[in-house]
Amino acid sequence: MLEEEYNPRRKLPPHLRPVPPSEPAFSFELRQATERDLPDMLEIYNHYVANSTVTFDEDALTLREMRHKYRDVERLGFPWLVAVSSTGMILGYCYVTPWKAKAAYRYTVEDSIYLSPAATGKGVGKALMARMLDDARAAGIKEVIAVIADKGAEASIAMHERFGFKKIGEMGRVGFKFNRWLGTVLMQKSLKGGPRAVRAAK
Ligand SMILES: CC(C)(COP(=O)(O)OP(=O)(O)OC[C@H]1O[C@@H](n2cnc3c(N)ncnc32)[C@H](O)[C@@H]1OP(=O)(O)O)[C@@H](O)C(=O)NCCC(=O)NCCS
Repeated sequence: MLEEEYNPRRKLPPHLRPVPPSEPAFSFELRQATERDLPDMLEIYNHYVANSTVTFDEDALTLREMRHKYRDVERLGFPWLVAVSSTGMILGYCYVTPWKAKAAYRYTVEDSIYLSPAATGKGVGKALMARMLDDARAAGIKEVIAVIADKGAEASIAMHERFGFKKIGEMGRVGFKFNRWLGTVLMQKSLKGGPRAVRAAK
C-alpha cells in the first residue's frame, strides 16, 4: 500500500515543508515615452474614461487623438514619461500640456498622470511625478497646475499634496458624468530654479 492511501491527509510538519518560491520584487523603470507606447497608454486612459470620474472624458479617446496630443507635447520639448515593468509592460504614464494657448501662459502647464489599475499604490505614481517635475523644471516650466475631480480622485489629491501642490481653488458642479454633478479641485506648484533665461523672464 502506498503511503497516501493509508494516510492521504498527512501533512509535513512546518519545518519540513518546502519553502514556496518568493514573489519577484516589484521593479520598474522610467523613460521618455515613444509613439510605440501610445496603444498601451490609450488602454490605460480609456479604462478611466469608462469606469471613473477621474477624467471628465466620456467617450474613449482614439489612437489618433492621443498621437496628436503626444506630438504637441513632444514638439514643445515638455516631458511625457512612462513607467515600464521589468517584463516590459507599460504601468503608467504622465505628461504636461500648456495650461492655456495665450502666449503669456507659456511657463505654466497642466499635469496628467494615469496608472494601470494593477500598478497603483506601489510607488509608481510617486516616481513618475518626481521625474516629471524635474524634467518640467529643466524644460523651463515655472508653474504646474493640477485639475482634479472632487469625487473619486482622492489618491491623486493626496499625491499632489505630498509633492507640495497647494489647493488654489475649487469649481463646483462643472462636470456631469455617470448621472451626477462633479466639481474640480485646482492645485498649483511653483518650480524653483530652471534655466537662467527663464529665471530672468520671471
Ligand atoms: C493617482 C495615482 C497617479 C497615484 O499613483 P500611485 O502609484 O497609486 O501612488 P503611490 O503609490 O506612488 O503613492 C503616492 C502618494 O499618493 C497618495 N496615495 C496613493 N494611493 C492612495 C490612496 N489609495 N488613497 C489616498 N492616498 C493615496 C499618498 O499620498 C502616496 O504617498 P505616500 O506613499 O508617501 O503615502 C494613481 O493612483 C492613479 O493612476 N490613479 C487613477 C488615475 C488618476 O486618478 N489619475 C489622476 C487624475 S487627476
